Amino acid sequence: MAFEKSILCIGAGYVGGPTMAMIARKCPQYRVTVVDTNPKRIAAWNSDTLPIYEPGLDEIVKGARGRNLFFSTRIDAAIQEADVIFVSVNTPTKTFGAGAGMAADLQYWEKTARQIREASQSPKIIVEKSTLPVKTALAMERILTATANGVRFDILSNPEFMAEGTGIKDLESPDRVLIGSRETPDGIRARGELVKIYANWVPRERIITSNIWSSELSKLVSNAFLAQRISSINAISSLCEKTEANITEVARAVGMDSRLGDKFLNASIGFGGSCFKKDILNLVYLCRQYGLDEVADYWDGVVRINDYQKERFVLNMLRAMFNTLAGKRICLFGFAFKANTGDTRESPAIYVSRRLLEERAELVITDPRALANAGVDLADTKGEIAFVEDPCEAAAGCDAIAVMTEWGIYATLDFKKIYETMRKPAFIFDGRNILDHQNLFRIGFNVFPVGKPPLTHF
Ligand code: NAD
Ligand code: UGA
Repeated sequence: MAFEKSILCIGAGYVGGPTMAMIARKCPQYRVTVVDTNPKRIAAWNSDTLPIYEPGLDEIVKGARGRNLFFSTRIDAAIQEADVIFVSVNTPTKTFGAGAGMAADLQYWEKTARQIREASQSPKIIVEKSTLPVKTALAMERILTATANGVRFDILSNPEFMAEGTGIKDLESPDRVLIGSRETPDGIRARGELVKIYANWVPRERIITSNIWSSELSKLVSNAFLAQRISSINAISSLCEKTEANITEVARAVGMDSRLGDKFLNASIGFGGSCFKKDILNLVYLCRQYGLDEVADYWDGVVRINDYQKERFVLNMLRAMFNTLAGKRICLFGFAFKANTGDTRESPAIYVSRRLLEERAELVITDPRALANAGVDLADTKGEIAFVEDPCEAAAGCDAIAVMTEWGIYATLDFKKIYETMRKPAFIFDGRNILDHQNLFRIGFNVFPVGKPPLTHF
């Protein structure tokens, strides 16, 4: 079958795989190819066990793969064939040189730009899908036009707003799709081409366009605002613990104000995930580069509160368990950075585990999807760690349970039975406020929620 258009995505990760699978599903008239330098990842995309866990993803990939969705390592050939190229490579925080620990590491992204330039023989629309510092498109334009081989490139910014765990729903029915372009006739024409692709399934009024710098910046700002709400509620959770106020009641009262809304007000052990921290640090770095130190300090506070919340959780455990954790066995319920994913990047569970090991506690870690990643994340640590799939088995013989991830399954467990198998006094630290605290207390547990008075038997 002759396809209407050839779409390529460079980077077959958490964003590239699902977003392209969705385009392939919704647009059978396009040929969609996803390439990556990592042959193992591509092999997994072509197998029965996809490289990432995302509810609903298997079905979509299996429905389109081999029909109009292809995963490959032949990057140059795919570039040559493509009309539209999405770039969805990783843009982690820089770990070396100027801006280390703050700025975005653009090496993968720049290599891609150069490879596109070298392999292209026909005009292409290049779409920034990765999250990038504002003004990156300018650098991309300069790299792509640095040789006079006459190939025309139009650069667009189309940041991705999907969240892991709800990725398929987010892609199928996004709040908005944002497309930024140069406001020149060519830029506007290219942006129209991308609007046409999304209009295959996204209502037209949800596809918004802007100038390219607004688009790049909007992505960083969206993540910064979302993370800021979590840090705000977490900051207040510490005040609740001192004053006998209850964070759930406060969040409900605040969230019923329609100007504020009730989403993203769940107090927790802190936010994790590969992007919030990285994108805020990137924003902070940008502000400092432009001499806006007050603005940088303001956003930096969001990350500082998040670090404080994780450490506060560990110190609460230490204090509650008689100021020593040495030799105590602690069961972590969950290791993923949120429910419904196996992703553990920047998971607060990593920090908590390392700190508990420093205190010489022994760990038993359970998670329905993230045990393999947990093993990798903690591979360099010293101390005793067991990985156990069944949460009831994992808790047996432990002094405490600490809830790290809000997996629904944890709220349904038989805690009476679990209590009987644990050492006494038995503790529960609910880092996600998902359990029935009164019931746990009645069973005999000493219960420590986030942002609520503890329920203790002593
Ligand atoms: P990821 O690490 O899962 O995937 C990136 C992939 O790019 C990797 O498989 C890597 O091998 C590949 N890659 C790197 N350099 C390459 C090159 N030169 N050629 C071909 N492939 C190359 O990352 P991700 O989570 O998919 O994130 C990608 C981008 O999207 C980041 O900028 C991130 O900030 C942004 N983002 C992520 C999410 C999310 O939910 N994870 C959501 C929105 C935006
Ligand atoms: C987030 C954004 O929600 C997406 O819009 C964005 O595209 C993505 O980052 C990205 O750029 O990577 P994600 O990190 O996948 O998505 O997941 P979120 O649902 O935002 O959760 C992030 C963290 O905040 C998790 O650790 C979660 O448990 C925590 N969280 C969330 C809370 O602690 N409290 C809340 O009320 C909500």
